[in-house]
Amino acid sequence: MISKDDLLLKLWEHYTSQNPSVKQVYDLFIAEGEEVVNDHIAFRTFDDPRVNIDVLSQPFLKAGYTEKGQYTFEAKKLFAKHFEHQGDPLAPRVFISQLKTGEFSPFLRETASRCVDAIPASLLGADELVYSGNVWGTPSFEIYETLRQESEYAGWLYVNGFQANHFTVSVNFLKKLDSIQKVNAFLKEKGFRINDSGGEIKGTPAELLEQSSIRSEMIHVRFIEGLKQIPGCYYEFARRYPDTDGRLYPGFIAKSADKIFESTDFVDGTKKG
Ligand code: NI
Repeated sequence: MISKDDLLLKLWEHYTSQNPSVKQVYDLFIAEGEEVVNDHIAFRTFDDPRVNIDVLSQPFLKAGYTEKGQYTFEAKKLFAKHFEHQGDPLAPRVFISQLKTGEFSPFLRETASRCVDAIPASLLGADELVYSGNVWGTPSFEIYETLRQESEYAGWLYVNGFQANHFTVSVNFLKKLDSIQKVNAFLKEKGFRINDSGGEIKGTPAELLEQSSIRSEMIHVRFIEGLKQIPGCYYEFARRYPDTDGRLYPGFIAKSADKIFESTDFVDGTKKG
């Protein structure tokens, strides 16, 4: 069994090594004297019973997490669960979504099955699967492009596999940059691009959760057809508000997350700046 701290460290290392802009943002916060505490980490997977949410959540459950909420995203054809750590209130929530492959074309379904078939047996059911990245071999750019026409989520997952799709900074713990508005203004001034699908800020204080994110940077990925630039991961920011009992709202808002998912969409000018 891998401990919570080791698991989070492996995920952070994998995430920052592939997405240098995330480390730049992290370093900018630290340079401002801020303490960076993670609100949540998110993962993507297929609903194949060999790699679905129930499988990917295993290392977290063993490390002290329990299931807390379920979400459905009709338009994007996703189902998700969130998990919280029992005992460590500073541990990030874990949000895992899975693509409902049965609602897509035979091409997408078969591609998903073929990917899972190609996972080495030693990784199926292993704790390290969740930070192993692409475990089905060098992707095809043609397949990636075809998947994206049906689901940007599927295209991203096909190329990137199992890893944190994003970490999320808890704005509640920031001292100077203590609102989403301030965080967004700070990052824009530093040359980052905020995902403005559905507005730069998703959610409202009345909904008890506000979120924003920078758009994924373009990363170089080796495809069968050669090296290409495609969107990588993104960094998210969340501010939670207390409910009438004075307790910070712990869950997620489906309609906000729906727009946040689009941070990895392949759009013109995805590059920072
Ligand atoms: Ni998120």
